[in-house]
Amino acid sequence: MLKGKHIILGITGSIAAYKAAYLTRLLIKKGAEVQIVITPAGKEFITPVTLSALTGKPVVSEFFTANSGEWHSHVDLGLWADAMIVAPATASTIAKMANGVADNMLITTYLSAKAPVFVAPAMDLDMYKHPSTQANLKKLQSYGNYIIEPASGFLASGLEGKGRMEEPEKIVEYLEQFFSKGALFAGKRVMVTAGPTYEKIDPVRFIGNYSSGKMGYAIAEAFASQGAEVTLISGPVNLSCSSAIERIDVKSAKEMCAVAMSKFETSDIAIMCAAVADYAPKEYSTSKIKRHGEMTVELVPNPDIAATLGAVKKENQILAGFALESDDEESNATLKLQKKNLDFIVLNSLADKGACFGYDTNKITIISKNGEKESYPLKNKKEVAQDIVAYTLKLKK
Ligand code: CTP
Repeated sequence: MLKGKHIILGITGSIAAYKAAYLTRLLIKKGAEVQIVITPAGKEFITPVTLSALTGKPVVSEFFTANSGEWHSHVDLGLWADAMIVAPATASTIAKMANGVADNMLITTYLSAKAPVFVAPAMDLDMYKHPSTQANLKKLQSYGNYIIEPASGFLASGLEGKGRMEEPEKIVEYLEQFFSKGALFAGKRVMVTAGPTYEKIDPVRFIGNYSSGKMGYAIAEAFASQGAEVTLISGPVNLSCSSAIERIDVKSAKEMCAVAMSKFETSDIAIMCAAVADYAPKEYSTSKIKRHGEMTVELVPNPDIAATLGAVKKENQILAGFALESDDEESNATLKLQKKNLDFIVLNSLADKGACFGYDTNKITIISKNGEKESYPLKNKKEVAQDIVAYTLKLKK
């Protein structure tokens, strides 16, 4: 259930921080990718070296790296996460979270997080019982956060009572239960195409386009985080994806088509997000073409991958595509949907600011094969991906 999940583990200044190392290990064993964000006080209890050795990633603690000035973006982190766990959570961190006191990286990350947040308090019994702590916990719950109640038992203070951070195994169990409820596509196979294609002219030149692949990658991740088995067929891009996704790299439209055809057979859902080059050079020159005045490159049409799949689509399969349009957007998109035998098409308009290639945001309208339209506001591509996943859920066969 946690395979491929992006988890932020927030660690604060409590003696229970030593258990965070074990919690990290358990999460990684379950296949999650863990990013530690630690408060300055947390570092007094457990060293970042231990934690980064476990996660294979640098631990984030400050807003900037002191010597390089490199900024750590809490906003990017907040968007990356499928879940944030604060374990151990001290009374002080709980109070800051409840009141938005954003004076460290952990709190700013929490305030930016779009994913569910789980809080595992750890403190002495009287601190835990105190009305201010209880009021803060209630406040956190009222904001939609999940409190993993502390256990009763022997405390570091020598006292006995409620306040001991829940055991790492129990925290992992809690998360697994939470995600098993959210695994909307468990057992479903999803195929996504993403990025541009490169059509070779000679050994050093090609015809391509500006597609960054971000939208397709975000869709692949969004399906994977809902339990789907995802194959991502990717053109040349500068992106990475979580280990839970099967990624197949291709260059040309022909290669992408061959892989897509072989994978479609066993797919329940296919989302065609790649910006496939419509044409490829007729001839490929094995040696570098020399400059000699004017030249013409003769182009021949590439296969239409979406239409090829649409022609063999079975009743129980869902096939969706994208349409990037500049004029008569809706009618052109509807024509594409019909021509390619799609179940729905995601329309991007070149007229919309902040949408399409190169941006982190996108503005879409989804048109179904019955002609129903749903328009969405400008959103981050990760949120757009979640909207597409939610739309696909309505059609799930
Ligand atoms: N597509 C595809 N194979 C192609 C061209 C497009 O699979 N050779 C898919 C895209 O991934 C997208 C949809 O078809 O899901 C529409 O792509 P788009 O480039 O907007 O449309 P085209 O059919 O190429 O039409 P045009 O470029 O003339 O607008």
